[in-house]
Amino acid sequence: PKDLPLKGKKVVVTAGPTRERIDPVRFLTNFSSGKMGYAMAEAAAVLGAETVLISGPVCIDAPPNVSLISVESAKDMYEAVLEEFDTASIVIKTAAVADYKPKDVHAQKMKKQPGEASIVIERTTDILAELGQRKKSQLLIGFAAETNDVIHYAKGKLEKKNADYIIANDVTEAGSGFGTETNSVTLVGKNDVEMQFPHLHKKELALQLLQTIMKLEKDETK
Ligand code: PMT
Repeated sequence: PKDLPLKGKKVVVTAGPTRERIDPVRFLTNFSSGKMGYAMAEAAAVLGAETVLISGPVCIDAPPNVSLISVESAKDMYEAVLEEFDTASIVIKTAAVADYKPKDVHAQKMKKQPGEASIVIERTTDILAELGQRKKSQLLIGFAAETNDVIHYAKGKLEKKNADYIIANDVTEAGSGFGTETNSVTLVGKNDVEMQFPHLHKKELALQLLQTIMKLEKDETK
């Protein structure tokens, strides 16, 4: 693009799943491949931002001109994001952060026992909600992976987490959501913004999302 709307801005993007250890060989996680978050980071860099990508464990390479910080658990991601937060202009939370982690992490491999077994899980910190509490001038952009009442829940998250925009993702739609090359989303924002995007490759979608958000922000300050 000729226009570099993010020049001079620091953008922090989170991507991928997190891993929550049960014992030295097992963990809880989800199906996030990192593709959507890596596409957001690539788009931010293309639009001129100094870009920091904080990523859970994935199998894809970091895009060009992006500084990669690799993390494992929700707690690691929380600490890495906080470290970058004060100097960030925009934070984009594409990561599928685990909502729960095992209460006790076993130091040794758990042995099989006859009969049923159970693991007690407890909540992780909601990173986006925490940033919503702390934010000063930062623009906060979250994602929401939903299976039903997508817009309704996305609006709820926008308010509850004090985000500026939520990118609502119906993960039950074909060619959309976890692991796919493409995605279809609705951008939900403050001032009743509700914009549906066409079904696109994640890289193209990321570029359109960021360009749209920057335009909305520019119009607002006019
Ligand atoms: O990685 P891909 O395979 O390309 O898949 C992309 C995606 C489906 C993971 C992505 O498009 C997406 O929807 N990411 C958000 C997934 C998610 O965790 O949604 P959520 O509705 O549970 O969380 C809402 C928001 O809160 C998210 O911005 C999330 O990063 C954040 N959150 C959630 C829990 C937590 N403990 N801390 C958080 O910050």
